[in-house]
Amino acid sequence: MEPMTTDTSDPQPLFKSAPSRAIKEINRRRTFAIISHPDAGKTTLTEKLLLFGGAIKEAGAVKSRKTERKATSDFLSIEQERGISVSSSVMKFNYKDYEINLLDTPGHRDFSEDTYRVLTAVDCAVMIIDSAKGVEPQTRKLMEVCRMRNTPIITFINKLDREGMDPLSLFEDIEEKLQIECTPITWPIGMGKRFKGVYHLSRQELGLFSAGYTPKSGDGIVITDLEDRELDRHLGSQARELRDDIELIQGAADPFDMDEYLKGSQTPVFFGSAINNFGVREMLDSFVEIAPAPGIRRTSTREVSPEEPAFSGFTFKIQANMDPAHRDRIAFFRICSGKFTRGMKVRHHRINKDVILSNATIFMARERSNIDEAWPGDIIGIHNHGTIKIGDTFTEKEPLKFIGIPSFAPEHFRRVILRNPMKTKALQKGLMQLAEEGTIQVFRPRINNDYILGAVGVLQFDVTMARLGAEYGVEATHETVDLSVARWITCHDKDRFKEFLGKNEASVATDSEGCTAFLTTSEYQLGFAVEAWPGIEFHKTREYN
Ligand code: G4P
Repeated sequence: MEPMTTDTSDPQPLFKSAPSRAIKEINRRRTFAIISHPDAGKTTLTEKLLLFGGAIKEAGAVKSRKTERKATSDFLSIEQERGISVSSSVMKFNYKDYEINLLDTPGHRDFSEDTYRVLTAVDCAVMIIDSAKGVEPQTRKLMEVCRMRNTPIITFINKLDREGMDPLSLFEDIEEKLQIECTPITWPIGMGKRFKGVYHLSRQELGLFSAGYTPKSGDGIVITDLEDRELDRHLGSQARELRDDIELIQGAADPFDMDEYLKGSQTPVFFGSAINNFGVREMLDSFVEIAPAPGIRRTSTREVSPEEPAFSGFTFKIQANMDPAHRDRIAFFRICSGKFTRGMKVRHHRINKDVILSNATIFMARERSNIDEAWPGDIIGIHNHGTIKIGDTFTEKEPLKFIGIPSFAPEHFRRVILRNPMKTKALQKGLMQLAEEGTIQVFRPRINNDYILGAVGVLQFDVTMARLGAEYGVEATHETVDLSVARWITCHDKDRFKEFLGKNEASVATDSEGCTAFLTTSEYQLGFAVEAWPGIEFHKTREYN
């Protein structure tokens, strides 16, 4: 899709020497998400990270929220859940001198397009792999999204206290399925009942595992020479295995390379057991050191440095709030440059209006009410009544449009069935607004008047139906339709495009922003079309206008 062009006659000069306060605040921020397949241990790890950061006081807080979420089955609970998920959408905690924003990536039955889009707002990610299962489908999908921006990835291989795949096979699995090179930072000693702990390769430190005991800094035993008898004393017969393993990996695995990691082509790997809080601190210590601070972001006209003094940022998620009658929304907004202060005036460029950010929420696990400023990398929640949509850019003045916060090709499709034909207008209005919020995607086929809904996660359909009823008074249901693949299509040659549309009319539809899409039954059919129609471009994502 062509990027939107905007007036650049008065570009903001790059801020050459940001005040030291700004530099300090930017450099100590880490904004990340966890990517994993359900049940790999995301909730457990999140909880341990929050405990380390002092953001929660006791284990169980995050877990119980998850249980509530899992139990969600009807609209009322979806609505109630929103209250919960707003507060858990961004979890902020401090570790050492770092200020960390952990963005939630809903993964179970609430997996949705938002899960993908959250990844466009982070600077790095932690990937959890279940040691018994290796790379699983959802991780693959999320990794594909990380690839779009070459997001740096740290890997945590979890559940070493259980029998799993051997570490080298896990490396092979990750390298083959995710096309990213693995470099071990820690190395496990045994697994399951024989799990003894990990050896930290660069620190040359042995961390001994004891179920239920949370290791403290200073617990590690420094063993610089692996032939040291001390190793045998701690590990018994498994000392030999560790020596052999390390000899093997030192020959086979490339050492950690910061540039390769930052480019997203190498991932440092940690082993541990989240539930036992083992290996988590090692990972977190390295994470704060090597995860990048907020960096440069692309707009349709220029790049924006976080150190620029003028405030700017974009919306990547919209969440309807508890009171549907008031169309009360929270827009999740990532700050890209400058400093946010409560009450500041910014320009909402899409609707060409100034907006006062007086009631923005700053997501803090603690001291929420005392915080009046926020910096690049931070996420603020802006209350609105449906005036903000995904991808909207706010700046102090300059008309910018951040790009790379797209809509993702849906993977599930349904046809809307309207119960009361008198409500056609309300249905149309509701669907258009829900599409703007990223709740659902809406397609109108060329050959009929159907409304075809597209989603990344099937819960999106139920949320859409429930909200159509509650907010627009539209009683509708949905039925399955024989579609499973969508691609947005463009072509530089107008005549060729016309020819394609004419010959494929039954598979062509227009989405809520007027973009043309090709909808078909299988990847095979898509491949067939791609081959048959050189010159037609098939896109898996599309930028919001
Ligand atoms: P998720 O958010 O990625 O879906 O995973 P979650 O943390 O909920 O973990 C999924 C299951 O794996 C949970 O068990 C959890 O206790 C378990 N788990 C997490 N980390 C480890 C680990 O290091 N070792 C072992 N052995 N298990 C781990 P559950 O039975 O589904 O839930 P629960 O009854 O334990 O709460």
